[in-house]
Amino acid sequence: MSPMNSCRLLPAILLLPLASCPSTMQDPIQTVRSGVFGQAPSGEDIHWYELRNSSGMIACVHNWGATLYELHVPSAIGRTADVVLGFDDMDGYLSEDNQYFGCTAGRYANRIAKGRFSIDAKTYQLAINNDPNHLHGGEHGLDKVIWTAAVASPSSVRFSYTSPDGEEGYPGEVSIVVTYTLTDTNALVIEYEAETSAPTHLNLTHHSYFNLSGAGSGTVLDHELQLFASRYTPTDGTLIPTGEMKPIASTPLDFRTLKPLRRGAEALAASAALGIDHNFIIEGTQGAMRTAAYLHDPASRRSMTVNSTEPGLQVYTGNFLSGQTGKSGQVYPQRSAVCLETQHFPDTPNQPNFPTTLLLPGDTYTQHTEYRFAW
Ligand code: GLA
Repeated sequence: MSPMNSCRLLPAILLLPLASCPSTMQDPIQTVRSGVFGQAPSGEDIHWYELRNSSGMIACVHNWGATLYELHVPSAIGRTADVVLGFDDMDGYLSEDNQYFGCTAGRYANRIAKGRFSIDAKTYQLAINNDPNHLHGGEHGLDKVIWTAAVASPSSVRFSYTSPDGEEGYPGEVSIVVTYTLTDTNALVIEYEAETSAPTHLNLTHHSYFNLSGAGSGTVLDHELQLFASRYTPTDGTLIPTGEMKPIASTPLDFRTLKPLRRGAEALAASAALGIDHNFIIEGTQGAMRTAAYLHDPASRRSMTVNSTEPGLQVYTGNFLSGQTGKSGQVYPQRSAVCLETQHFPDTPNQPNFPTTLLLPGDTYTQHTEYRFAW
């Protein structure tokens, strides 16, 4: 099937008034189209929202997991393509095939060793859902809950969720707001804010799988990556950091200059990670917006720059993708996409030398990340 170029094909009769929309509308917020995506297991409707910009980009999000499920990017040499992996319906999002596609991951994105941490001498045990560790917030993390959605501006949608005290074993009631904005300068901007009622650990990230040639168009091994990092956090055989921060120089992870993902992914294919699945320490000051990564696809000539306030970037070359069927019947084999997840370092609650993820009552967690496209 050809790409839809919109979140949902509407009956023609519904499209007509849109096609005749004047460029300046009385109520600009009406320019964000939305509709029903499907139903959550509770029977509640899940809604989709469509953001468009002036150069032809379209981002589609829904409120199951505050998820980005389509991102259409034009091309200078070919057709617009949808560059993120995802599913057409809720069956896909609720299935085992859904490896956090496009979601907001948390409360703690990435791994916590043995699912355990202590705050003020009290130990908390979380779910072991990635044996022997805790991954991406547990059995029912933020990717598997219904967020409250609101159109925040003609170019942005805001998702809110209050995670009750004790949810998935985490202390404190945590209120989270995630806002997606599609700018006319071709950036998908994701802003996060959160507060807690009791001391807790929080680490949020965005988990899109990118393929700049278009989702379902083969591997990303020939995509070229440059990282603005010279160190990484080595891990043990269960992908938990050893606590060290080591130079990437002279390792397969040395992406300080632009090079194909193939170089790292193939060199690490026999490791526990089956490819690249590592946390890089972004250079510069945490909290300041700076460039973490640049990804370029020679085939489509699309590129994506990742800017963020976060201290770390998990680069994951889709090593655990298993050939599942996604949108429009596309197949997603191993290494058919790359995730560039801005976040704090894995297992920080148990690593005294890593920048802290402790969130205290009265403090506000913030993160600002943008995926900026060029073609
Ligand atoms: C993250 C992890 C990977 C993997 C994926 C989900 O990116 O780093 O190891 O668990 O999520 O499949």
